[in-house]
Amino acid sequence: MRSDTELLDHILDHIDNGTTDLGEQDWFEPVENYTSQSRFDAERRLMRRLPIPFCPVAALPEAGSYVARASAGVPLVVVRGLDGAIRAFRNACRHRGMQLADGSGCTKIFRCNYHGWAYRLDGRLEYVPHEHGFPDLDKNNNGLVPVHAVEVRSGLVFITQDEPVGLGALESLPELLTENQVLFDSSESVEDTNWKLTAEGTLEGYHIKPTHPESFYPYGYDNLNVIEMQGPNSRVCFPFRRIETLRDAPREGLSLNRMVTLVNRIFPFTSVNQLSQHCHVSFAEPESATRTRYFNYNFTLPKPNGSLPNDEDLARARKDAAFLADTGNQEDAKVVSDIQAAMSSGANTHYRFGRFESAIHHLHCNLARYLERLDEFEKSRH
Ligand code: FES
Ligand SMILES: [Fe+2]
Repeated sequence: MRSDTELLDHILDHIDNGTTDLGEQDWFEPVENYTSQSRFDAERRLMRRLPIPFCPVAALPEAGSYVARASAGVPLVVVRGLDGAIRAFRNACRHRGMQLADGSGCTKIFRCNYHGWAYRLDGRLEYVPHEHGFPDLDKNNNGLVPVHAVEVRSGLVFITQDEPVGLGALESLPELLTENQVLFDSSESVEDTNWKLTAEGTLEGYHIKPTHPESFYPYGYDNLNVIEMQGPNSRVCFPFRRIETLRDAPREGLSLNRMVTLVNRIFPFTSVNQLSQHCHVSFAEPESATRTRYFNYNFTLPKPNGSLPNDEDLARARKDAAFLADTGNQEDAKVVSDIQAAMSSGANTHYRFGRFESAIHHLHCNLARYLERLDEFEKSRH
């Protein structure tokens, strides 16, 4: 990825020349890839065999902090132990499979609500009520079942559920969240749309003027983006018009915070967006070809000097998040749900993505590449 200085000069060139970043070629994505059950199932199986961001590390601030939710349809619980390490387990009791945790919180122990078996934060089975009823039970071999791997990178907890088919997003991960960004809000939402439609809606600026004439366009440009790829990930930069005030600014130590929106697509299901006054992280959990659950987290922006945000920064971040929720996000959601509704019309066998939409091309290409790997992997096991 370009440094902020390089990014600024590249953007100013585009402004002066009326240009934007262009991909090599256009791309046709079969509509079937948004509708077919077998494709959806394959995407979910892939999700279990790649490192996938599960939550921000900031959601696990202290020993006992946990986040429980399904990922690729599998209920998981991620918890910070007394030793500070973050572990992830399948969220199922070893007695008769009841889920042990729900949502997020902080606990000393996971006690099953069904019959009371209790597990330590490191997963060990600690206590079984009336244990004499299980004469052959070896408590040491009946702890919570861990996932294949957990890794903390760039402020995100990545989980690989099963033996992976590749590095996925970790092939080359950009810098994302920093330690001085404060998590101030989290929420969950459900949309009756395919997850890829929503992702696509964030990955190009070709639509900004027609779709967001009063919310985003007055502050931005018509079809002016810098699009960068890093591994299978991508970053799309949407400059604000106020960036032109930096034309003659000294380049040393320059920061483009508040001068650009940066949309990071962390391959393939996660977005980390640095917006005007806050940072929005969204983890997609596809539930069907036409339904997606989102786990959303809002952070303050990083401060260039590495200091913590003050009350004013926090107020601005909250206001920015509310503005987006009331305007641009609704405009995008309307587009996506309209496309979803027209999908079965038969008008298109393929969707066409042009040279302005190269980050979408990149997402689809890499998804196809990894689905192929998954297919080879699964065949080799039969
Ligand atoms: S299912 Fe958990 S204690 Fe019985
Ligand atoms: Fe949009």
